Amino acid sequence: MEIVLSGIRSTGRLHLGNYYGAVRNFVKMQHDYQCYFFIADYHSLTTHPKPDDWKANVKQVLCEYLACGIDPEIATVYIQSDVPETFELYLILNMLAYKGELERTTSFKDKVRQQPDNVNAGLLTYPVLMAADILIHKANKVPVGKDQEQHLEMTRNFASRFNNLYGVDYFPLPTAFNFGKNLIKIPGLDGSGKMGKSEGNGIYLSDDAKTVEKKVMRAVTDTGPTEKNQKMPEPIQNLFTILEVVSSPDTVEHFRKQYADCTIRYGELKKQLAADINRALEPIRERISYYMNNEEVIRKVVNLGREKARASAAKTLREVREIIGIRPF
Ligand code: TRP
Repeated sequence: MEIVLSGIRSTGRLHLGNYYGAVRNFVKMQHDYQCYFFIADYHSLTTHPKPDDWKANVKQVLCEYLACGIDPEIATVYIQSDVPETFELYLILNMLAYKGELERTTSFKDKVRQQPDNVNAGLLTYPVLMAADILIHKANKVPVGKDQEQHLEMTRNFASRFNNLYGVDYFPLPTAFNFGKNLIKIPGLDGSGKMGKSEGNGIYLSDDAKTVEKKVMRAVTDTGPTEKNQKMPEPIQNLFTILEVVSSPDTVEHFRKQYADCTIRYGELKKQLAADINRALEPIRERISYYMNNEEVIRKVVNLGREKARASAAKTLREVREIIGIRPF
């Protein structure tokens, strides 16, 4: 069975776009592939988060994924810093990564521009750590966005250098998992582009009903259609795209008709949209708070994930050491 691995940033609370985009696909995929989902907490260390934020961030993200339906009994759900084998492989892979290629990585160059006072070696070798995350379980497929494709390509380079150097066919060369048409793109509320984290643009799964309502009511619109059957401008099209995901076909049809004959009132559209988003989110919200308030359950999930991940990681590391020649006396 193919192995799929996905790394989750520990700092990002999930928004509607993540949920209807990747996460719902993960929930289905866990039955068809051997899935590893891990929270990349060590990657966030490059920006030096405060110790108290560290655990809170990891906990929030973990609870949100569980609430969405990731099943820790079926998939392996773990925290990166729980699997020290990753860091030994990271060290080994560092010997196969060239300074020049690391310096040329787009994400590194961006960071140098953004934080010139903190260009640490961890930033430089960020792609090596990511490669270690992937190769420690010998994953074949990695669901990544455009911004991570270069890192994945570097992972393939490190893996094939390892294979060539030692004359083995050991590491698979992982490729991007493409959801194809199953990937629903949710636009933002600020009039253009996709949903992201910027203020007022995104709706978080953990937002309460009032907050959702406020955000939707503030969404960018225009002064309304003036000609029958006119083409929708992007901000209005965006609201309909979200409506199509959370509302019934009848509701969508109702407002489409109103738009076409210029009787639409955006206030009503938004009220309906907010209500339907809240209806979709309510069960998830309940499950998030169930996990957030249930330390015992979370501890069990984390322990189980650590155990499964370390079993797989230890096997890889044992074999890698053997291949390199680090053998017991
Ligand atoms: N770099 C990824 C991001 O910023 C997170 C990540 C870390 C990751 N390790 C990974 C993703 C391994 C996939 C595989 O989103």
